[in-house]
Amino acid sequence: MTHRITLIPGDGIGPEVTKATVRILEATGVKFEWETFAAGAEAFEKYKEYIPKELTESIERTRVGLKGPVTTPIGGGFSSINVELRKRFELFANFRPIRNLPHIPTRYPDVDLIIVRENTEGLYSGIEHEVVPGVVESLKIITEKASTRVSRFAFEYARQNKRKKIHCIHKANIMKMSDGLFLRCSRQVSKEYPEITYGEHIVDNTCMQLVMNPYQYDMLLLENLYGDIVSDLCAGLVGGLGLVPGANFGHECAIFEAVHGSAPDIAGKNIANPTAVLRSALLMLRHIGEVDAAWKIRNAIDQVYRDRSKLTRDVGGSAGTSEFADSIIQAMESAHPAEAQEV
Ligand code: NAI
Repeated sequence: MTHRITLIPGDGIGPEVTKATVRILEATGVKFEWETFAAGAEAFEKYKEYIPKELTESIERTRVGLKGPVTTPIGGGFSSINVELRKRFELFANFRPIRNLPHIPTRYPDVDLIIVRENTEGLYSGIEHEVVPGVVESLKIITEKASTRVSRFAFEYARQNKRKKIHCIHKANIMKMSDGLFLRCSRQVSKEYPEITYGEHIVDNTCMQLVMNPYQYDMLLLENLYGDIVSDLCAGLVGGLGLVPGANFGHECAIFEAVHGSAPDIAGKNIANPTAVLRSALLMLRHIGEVDAAWKIRNAIDQVYRDRSKLTRDVGGSAGTSEFADSIIQAMESAHPAEAQEV
């Protein structure tokens, strides 16, 4: 069987890390047909659209995307392509597993956290205007529908994957109505899952708790902005943004992408770490039913990290992006089956 996947290489380090990932995926023997499209500034030059119609049609057709990061201009310019794709395809649940890789020195070993971030509203609704000169208003939209469906996603995941605890993270002491609604919805859904312990923490305290003792949490459920910020904090707990994968799930389709951005500071130098996009691709392989290939790559990642001689600079090595990919492909031939427990 051939899997048709929409591929968005993105910009900055995107093309380098997605190229490395595609090479590794193809070396598993699984057959892919890639429908490749630009998005963002690069797409605008070619199609006069930031998200070309062809890209939208491709995702509607394949229902699965693998995406590199896309740059969003700061303080002006076009709106985030990433946010727009999530809204357009109702990819309402952003899923980010936070786990250590072997032999990467971090403050805490054996971190195992799951972040579920609401992905379609909150302050990312992008509804802003100038009220009068010098005063700007930005609207935070929270709906019962979106809050309930993302809560249900989190609890269903917990049930199916035998997770024990979910904390809903909020700031309902200040945003009593908006975060209050998010909290009420998650509380309501939690009642249907009595086997899962439910807790609530305020977001600022959560950041402190996470750096003091990440083991107290199992799964975190957050609205959009808190999820974005806390994800990067958690990436720092396990070795940095080069390592942490992500997935955007909707009822109709899913797009897999790393937590990190386009990293303009290291783009075009063949030094970016492709592990985060590669691990996102492992989530994709599981989603499309190619579980054996996912384990094959996962075990190879463990082997390469254990060996340490072909790691990228962000994790203390000196190998380039493509050299790292070569070593994963090589390791796939010899890695022991089913050593790793999780993606
Ligand atoms: P960033 O995540 O691109 O970079 C933050 C730091 O982490 C930089 O020092 C960078 O070099 C490092 N880093 C990130 N990924 C790495 C990798 N794979 N290997 C090694 N080091 C890595 O965040 P930043 O600089 O705040 O954002 C840059 C651009 O990316 C912005 O335009 C932002 O809007 C966009 N962005 C896009 C996302 C997406 O497409 N999903 C997500 C986050 C940001």
